[in-house]
Order: sequence, then structure tokens, then C-alpha cells
Amino acid sequence: MADEREVASDGDGEEAAHDPEREARRLAALSLIRRYGDPVLKSRATPIDRFDEALRQQIARMGQIMDEANGVGLAAPQLGLSQRLLVYRVGPEAPLTVLVNPELEWSSDDEEPLDEGCLSIPGVTVPVERPVYVRVRALDESGERRLVEASGLEARVIQHEIDHLDGVLILDRTAKDERKQAMRALREAERDHAERAA
Ligand code: NI
Repeated sequence: MADEREVASDGDGEEAAHDPEREARRLAALSLIRRYGDPVLKSRATPIDRFDEALRQQIARMGQIMDEANGVGLAAPQLGLSQRLLVYRVGPEAPLTVLVNPELEWSSDDEEPLDEGCLSIPGVTVPVERPVYVRVRALDESGERRLVEASGLEARVIQHEIDHLDGVLILDRTAKDERKQAMRALREAERDHAERAA
């Protein structure tokens, strides 16, 4: 998910548009990401049990695609891989965080709504209510256990990406009226896209 402009969406094209090379990389990265309607995005992903060089290469590739797409988080199913793996980076200077087989161990009763977008649903943002604090158990790229306690944007990104591992999208997490409106925007965006492509 999640960009800086909308705080919690995946992409911000406006800044990139000033730099044609960066914009080309952004579009190339986006073209690798599965879109709304792809069955892999509605499926529950499978736990990872091999912590080998192939996994580490895949993590590096996910980090690169996420960065080039101006995302703050990316889950493996978004690249068509049914694996319980996600990466995120909550600020330009922040390190890439990798969570393998993450389990949400605890979340706060304290919730807040915020507009979220998703690299798999470009052009759509909807308000999503989520717990402000979470504690997550996971493994890292070497299979070592890690515990992450997060709040605010980081907590939101983690929850958004874990949702992807369970086949849940932001449209499933928003109110009915918001979803209707978003679906309309999505159809319009697809029509515009088809017209431009024609
Ligand atoms: Ni997403």
C-alpha cells in the first residue's frame, strides 16, 4: 500500500511526473503488480518454509518494485506469488523491513480511520478504520524470529499488507457507500485507460 501524499496509499505520481525517467520506472514497476480482479488478490497465501538464496533475491526484487512504484508496502500476492511475505519502508530513509509468515499477535482497541490506497487498485482511496497499535510476530529473510511493535503509519501498513496475505483488500474494509463510490471511480479509471490505449 500506501503513499506519502495520501499518507496511506501506494503511489504518488505527481512528483515523479517531473522526472521522465523516474516516471517510466514507476509505470514499469506498476505493470508488474497484479490489479484488482486478479484471483490471486482474493486468495489466502501459503506460509514460507524455505529460507534460501531464492527467497532473498525475491525480497530484494519486491523492495525494488515497491520503491520504484513509490509504494510504502508490498505483499507477495501483489506480484502473483501466493506466499506469506511482505516488505515495507515507511519513510525514504527508513530501512526495508521484511516480514515472513507474519502473525498479528495483538492490536489495540484504539482505532482510527485514514484514507488508504493500494498499488493493486490505482487511483482509488477509501477510508479504512484500523487499530493504532499492533504487535506482530514474524520471521526475517533468514528464518530468524522477530517481534515488531508498531504504531501509526507503520502499524497501518503492516495491517494492510497482512490483509493482502489473507486475500482481503481495502474495498473489503470500507463502508458500503465508500465502496460503491470507489467502484465507480475504478470503472471510470479503467474506461479512461482503455480509451487512451485504443
Ligand atoms: Ni495494497
